[in-house]
Amino acid sequence: VDHLLGIKYLTKEDIALIFQTADHFKEVINRPIKKVPSLRDITIANLFFENSTRTRLSFELAEKRLSADVVNFSASSSSVTKGETLIDTVNNILSMKVDMVVMRHPNPGAGIFLSRHVNASIINAGDGAHEHPTQALLDCYSIREKLGEIEGKKVVIVGDILHSRVALSNIFALKLLGAQVKVCGPYTLIPKHIRSLGVEVEPNLKNALEWCDVANMLRVQHERMDISYFPSTREYVQLFGLNRQLLDSLNKKIVVMHPGPINRGVEITSDVADSDQAIILDQVQNGVAIRMAVIYLLASKIKQV
Ligand code: CP
Repeated sequence: VDHLLGIKYLTKEDIALIFQTADHFKEVINRPIKKVPSLRDITIANLFFENSTRTRLSFELAEKRLSADVVNFSASSSSVTKGETLIDTVNNILSMKVDMVVMRHPNPGAGIFLSRHVNASIINAGDGAHEHPTQALLDCYSIREKLGEIEGKKVVIVGDILHSRVALSNIFALKLLGAQVKVCGPYTLIPKHIRSLGVEVEPNLKNALEWCDVANMLRVQHERMDISYFPSTREYVQLFGLNRQLLDSLNKKIVVMHPGPINRGVEITSDVADSDQAIILDQVQNGVAIRMAVIYLLASKIKQV
């Protein structure tokens, strides 16, 4: 059975096929009837052991627009609270003839673990601070849509790199597609091994922004943070926050991204988030087409569709 567990396991050709398929589905979801009948014989379970707005709704919409049957599971209202294990939970769901599992989980590697113990196709919708592959795919797809090919583009990822699955998956995808990548943030929030991924570290935000074509502003992941890693919010905003004045002081017009949810006034001010340089809602819109493509390509390996 095939899975999407991380960008680490994909090739450049895999991503090209996903983008090509997403191009088709993007055209489909802009039609008056936004649905195709492709996956009428597929049932998908969305398992969320951690909160989500964008990813959960985007997967559900993608599945429904492919005509799949969908069941949604939220850990907080399930028998997980009575002590049921992950494998038991998933095997019970699969016994009801489910073909594919989309899972968000707080533990890094949860999707990989599950793929070794259950007989279903697994899509990782974010596993702790490890990977968020569909986010990186939709981010790269959005850069490609805005600037043309990814190859040769300069992307800076700003903020809490240490706790960010978005950062790691983006680094893997951007490097694979030939972009130059820098990270910028408090040194306590930059992983020690980051240079081994072919990424440069730029501690000064203004320098990083002057260099880049695209700035991806990450959310500070307070829920995964040891408090000693974090400067005060005031200091963080002063050194690593993107505001209109800073954006306007640059020599060129850069593209601003954010995976959401935004802490307005912390990593990015509202006048930047809502400006014409930000493609934040385009990222969300593209997420549905990207997830339709991923699900369609994996489903085509399970059944003839
Ligand atoms: N970008 C993202 O993963 O957002 P959610 O946590 O709301 O799904």
